[in-house]
Amino acid sequence: MKKILITGGAGYIGSHTAVALVNAGYEPVIIDDFSNSEKSVLERLKSITKREITWYEGDCNDAVRMRQIFSENQLTGVIHFAASKAVGESTQVPLKYYRNNIVSLLVLLETMAEFGVKDIVFSSSCTVYGQPDQLPVKETTPRKAAESPYGNTKKIGEDILTDYVKSNASVRAISLRYFNPIGAHKTALIGELPLGVPANLVPFVTQTGAGIREKLTVFGNDYDTPDGTCIRDYIHVMDLADAHVKSIAYLQDKGDHFYDLFNVGTGQGNTVMEVIKAFEKVSGKKLNYEIGPRRPGDIEKVWADTGKIEKLLNWKAKYNLEDALKDSWKWQLSLTAK
Ligand SMILES: NC(=O)c1ccc[n+]([C@@H]2O[C@H](COP(=O)([O-])OP(=O)(O)OC[C@H]3O[C@@H](n4cnc5c(N)ncnc54)[C@H](O)[C@@H]3O)[C@@H](O)[C@H]2O)c1
Repeated sequence: MKKILITGGAGYIGSHTAVALVNAGYEPVIIDDFSNSEKSVLERLKSITKREITWYEGDCNDAVRMRQIFSENQLTGVIHFAASKAVGESTQVPLKYYRNNIVSLLVLLETMAEFGVKDIVFSSSCTVYGQPDQLPVKETTPRKAAESPYGNTKKIGEDILTDYVKSNASVRAISLRYFNPIGAHKTALIGELPLGVPANLVPFVTQTGAGIREKLTVFGNDYDTPDGTCIRDYIHVMDLADAHVKSIAYLQDKGDHFYDLFNVGTGQGNTVMEVIKAFEKVSGKKLNYEIGPRRPGDIEKVWADTGKIEKLLNWKAKYNLEDALKDSWKWQLSLTAK
């Protein structure tokens, strides 16, 4: 069985990708420092997959630990999720973000070279597009100046891979630019664990629905969109997980020095008000919300052109907004019941 290292594999997207990899016949190996996840996820992964999953506690910036993992496992590829991801925090402590998100990628690429592991899938983000001039956004759409140190680490990560591949390094790499991941595994055993007050819409919606938050504030209803609220492309985390499996399989047929990047979204944009209405429909709850002022730094509207990933990776989102919100809600209820 092909072994794939998942850095940050106990986190939100990494844990769902571990499930998708097992389902596709791969053997995931996880490294996580649990800075933004819980060890209980590993037990839950075992319940879902009915497999013992190899895991290591460790920091991806620690070259010695990384070498140990590579020497103990014959890896065929790596999916690099491990990163700090709170946009707001990144403006307060930028060096933490540059260190964690950039050094970990460098250590990983160096360790891969040392052990002859070629394939890497890198977690990038639609944040690299900023507010695009044309919609839907294509991979060829120029990137904009990053709005935050976090966003900049994603641009720099992509640039590192581009330059490294250009140098004729023996590497095959894909960057996946995620749109807005939501939802959870259908068992509700794993999902997103937001720390503190969620900055993302859907965890805030489900927490408000569950009575943990009193009220949801909609940040602005005077944008140039059909109902005035911001538009995003919400992608079910299991669809996103499958895109990683397809990426790993795609890389294995490629020659050396290969790099490409793909949007991963549904191709459908939804407004904040549409998310609220869809949540009310699937949960049967009336959501307490109010309209507030615009939030500085928010992008007005963005959604993906998914033509490239559909054509080259043969991947297309299977779930729609309501499916994803149903699973987010089920996950929230399981958290509240704990
Ligand atoms: N969730 C999103 O909305 C989103 C959108 C676009 C891109 N991304 C990117 O996708 C990746 C995964 O995101 P997520 O939502 O699953 O985040 P997450 O925080 O749930 O998962 C990241 C995991 O990495 C671990 N980690 C962090 N630094 C580490 C280190 N140095 N060594 C070992 N483990 C470390 C954390 O403990 C956590 O378990 C990140 O790179 C993130 O920037 C996420």
